[in-house]
Amino acid sequence: MTIDNLRSPDLAARPATAAAPAVTAGSDLLRLDDLHISVHHGAATAIRGISLTVQPGEIVGLVGESGSGKTLTCRAALGVLPDGCTIDQGSLSFAGHDLTTLSRRGWEGVHGRLMGAVFQDPASYLNPSITVGHQLAEVLRVKLGLSRRAARQRSIELFTSVGLNHPEHVFHQIPAELSGGMLQRVMIAIAISCDPQLLVADEATTALDVTIQAEVIELLRRLRAERGLAVLFVSHDLAVVAELCDRVVVFYAGEVVESGPAREIIERPRHPYTQALLRVASVGDFRRRELQVIGGQPPQVGEHITGCRFAGRCPAAAAVCRSGPIAPVTVDDQHEVRCVRAQEAWTAGELAAR
Ligand SMILES: Nc1ncnc2c1ncn2[C@@H]1O[C@H](COP(=O)(O)OP(=O)(O)O)[C@@H](O)[C@H]1O
Ligand SMILES: [Mg+2]
Repeated sequence: MTIDNLRSPDLAARPATAAAPAVTAGSDLLRLDDLHISVHHGAATAIRGISLTVQPGEIVGLVGESGSGKTLTCRAALGVLPDGCTIDQGSLSFAGHDLTTLSRRGWEGVHGRLMGAVFQDPASYLNPSITVGHQLAEVLRVKLGLSRRAARQRSIELFTSVGLNHPEHVFHQIPAELSGGMLQRVMIAIAISCDPQLLVADEATTALDVTIQAEVIELLRRLRAERGLAVLFVSHDLAVVAELCDRVVVFYAGEVVESGPAREIIERPRHPYTQALLRVASVGDFRRRELQVIGGQPPQVGEHITGCRFAGRCPAAAAVCRSGPIAPVTVDDQHEVRCVRAQEAWTAGELAAR
C-alpha cells in the first residue's frame, strides 16, 4: 500500500520478510548528497546535484515550480523512481544506512517501517471496492503480523489519531463514500501505521480546499509533536510551506537554489527566484503586493546552461552569472544560496524597489 503501490499493486499483499534496518543514533535521518537523476533512459539529466537532509522530528519543505524536480527527489528517497529514471551520481542514506544500492527486498524493510508516503491523489492509491478499514488492517496484518482482531482494533485507533470522526463507521466505508480530506487522513493513517520515522508528503494538501488543507497541516504538526515524526513536505506553494516547516529547500530546474531555516527564507530571501516565489505567494513582507507570476520559462529538462539556470528570468542577472557554474554560498547559519549576489544584504525595502 502507499509507497509499494507505486511499484507494484500487489506488493502489500506479500509478507514483509525483510527487517527494517536498525537506526544509528546521531545520524541525519534522511541525507541526499549530490544526487543526479536522469530521465528517458539516460537521455536527459533532470536532477543536478541535489543535497539535503532531514533531522529526526524535523519538518522540511521542498518548494519550487512544477517540473523543478521535487517529486523525482522524493521518489528517489523512497526507492520508487519511475521507469527510465535512474540515479547516476550521488548518494542517499537513512539514519546512517546507505540506501543507494539497496535491493528491492531491502526497500521492503524501509517502506512503511522507516518511511511512509502520501501523495496528491489519495483515491488512486486505494482499492475502490474494499472498505478503507480493511485496507489499513491488511497493511497491519502483512507488515506487522497482527491478528485480524488486533489489526481491526489498531486501525480504529489509527483512524482516531488522524482525526477521523466516527472511526468505527469509517472503517466500513469504501473510498467513494469519503471526502478528499477524509481520504487523505486515511492515507496518512496507512502511511504512519507501522510507525515510520519519516513521512514524505508530496503535494498531499494541494488538491484540498483551504480549510481542509489547514486541518491536514495541523494534523502533520500534531503527529510530529506526538510521535516525533519527521516530514518531508512538498508543495509548489511557499505560503503553505512557510506555515508548517522548520526548514525550506527551494528547487529550481533540478537544483537547490536556496535552503535554510523557514523564518530566515521568508524574512530574508537571498535568491532572486525565492524572492519571486514569495511575491507570488504573497507572504511575509510581500503580502500587500499584488499577486504576480514569475515571467519567463524555466530551462527544458536536460538543457545545458553555462552558469546560473535562473539567469534567463532573473532581473538582476549580470555577465558573471552566465560565465560558469555557480557554487552555493553560506550566508548565515544553515542558510545557503546559489547566487553570486548572495552576500548582498538586501532589505525588504530594497527588494520591494527592485
Ligand atoms: N517518469 C518520468 N519520465 C521522464 N521525465 C520525467 C519523469 N518524471 C519527471 N520527469 C521530468 O523530470 C523533471 C522533474 O519532474 P518532477 O520531479 O515531477 O517535478 P515537480 O515534482 O517539481 O513538479 C520534469 O522536467 C519532468 O518532466
Ligand atoms: Mg511533483
